[in-house]
Amino acid sequence: MKIGILGSGSMGSGIAQVASQSGHEVVLFDTNAEQLDKAKGKLAKIMARLIEKGRVTSQDSEAIQNRITYITSMNDFAGSGLIIEAIIENIDIKKKVFADLENIVGGNCILASNTSSLSIASIAAACTKSDRVIGIHFFNPAPLMPLVEIIPAIQTSDATTTAARDLIDSWKKITVLTKDTPGFIVNRVARPFYGEALKIYEEGVADFATIDWAMTELGGFRMGPFTLMDYIGNDINYTVTETVFKAFYYDPRYRPSFTQKRHSEAGWFGRKSGRGYYDYSQGATKAAPNTDTEVGTQIMNRILVLLINEAIDAVFLNIASPKDVDLAMTKGVNYPKGLLQWGNEIGLSNVLAQLDTLHAEYGDDKYRASVLLRRMVKSGESFNF
Ligand SMILES: NC(=O)c1ccc[n+]([C@@H]2O[C@H](COP(=O)([O-])OP(=O)(O)OC[C@H]3O[C@@H](n4cnc5c(N)ncnc54)[C@H](O)[C@@H]3O)[C@@H](O)[C@H]2O)c1
Repeated sequence: MKIGILGSGSMGSGIAQVASQSGHEVVLFDTNAEQLDKAKGKLAKIMARLIEKGRVTSQDSEAIQNRITYITSMNDFAGSGLIIEAIIENIDIKKKVFADLENIVGGNCILASNTSSLSIASIAAACTKSDRVIGIHFFNPAPLMPLVEIIPAIQTSDATTTAARDLIDSWKKITVLTKDTPGFIVNRVARPFYGEALKIYEEGVADFATIDWAMTELGGFRMGPFTLMDYIGNDINYTVTETVFKAFYYDPRYRPSFTQKRHSEAGWFGRKSGRGYYDYSQGATKAAPNTDTEVGTQIMNRILVLLINEAIDAVFLNIASPKDVDLAMTKGVNYPKGLLQWGNEIGLSNVLAQLDTLHAEYGDDKYRASVLLRRMVKSGESFNF
């Protein structure tokens, strides 16, 4: 099947590589010809590295690169079975592009968006045949991250969902099915990892280095929240948080932080700007954490119970199945354990007790426990996968 990719930036170029590695003929389009050249150069470098490491033969590398055609006219999408759009995150531009695509591709072509924050229903509404539109959400970098969220809109047909999921499964990705709601699974459930860490810092409980230490050393997370936000970019991470907060009608659970807003406004984006929560300039020394395990455990537990609560609430609201919620967090953002599994292990009644203590102390609905958690504790249930 011929696969069309729109947008050759970080995501589009990675998705093109994945599709080509799976044997598809790929056409990659961008309005910016320079960006197409960059994508081509980047793939050549990646392939050279993979040959060096013995992961692909030079013959395979050549075939993978030759299967991708870099195009400057959308008309070359004709004959594709699937188009994945990965252009700028702007609803008006995306809608226009989807409407244009329908005039080029055949009636059976699936049209997918890789959007992180826009509703699939709003994009599908731009199409005459809206039942063929779906969200296929890869994680960055697409060739390395195994998770892909499959997001049918209310207009999407079951046939489109099944065909899209089967195809992405055949690319050796781990797919999870999720409802078309803000943040889908990962970007919804992960919010407290950033938000609560920022709040703990704002309250003066601990500094960045100590909170990061607690989450990595005591929690087993691969990166601490401040290191991760500096890696993602405070501008991007703040925008996602604000978008999710607005999209949830200002639910306090998703409230953004002034600390992050100020870092973003100051241009302290993180690694890419040389300074974020940490200083990345040459010769800079990193502050040492306070490695008091009592303080560390309190920090880690506070963030963890909020994460588990988000995961449970996503199940309560039928955003995804328990199995898919746990898969999403371990395969999309490398959590050391599925959050529901983690809740089972530390005891759901223990999670609820910690949340209720926080809720009583702060009087803030940010800490309200999910109804499902409360019901499960009452009936003595735990999650079965
Ligand atoms: N970066 C991430 O971590 C990430 C992860 C998952 C999903 N996404 C989503 O993927 C999409 C792309 O993100 P990105 O980080 O790759 O962006 P990017 O800025 O790296 O790339 C976007 C590309 O789209 C091109 N473009 C813009 N308008 C276009 C148009 N009308 N037609 C064709 N090409 C056009 C640009 O020239 C650019 O090359 C966004 O919807 C984003 O929300 C991003």
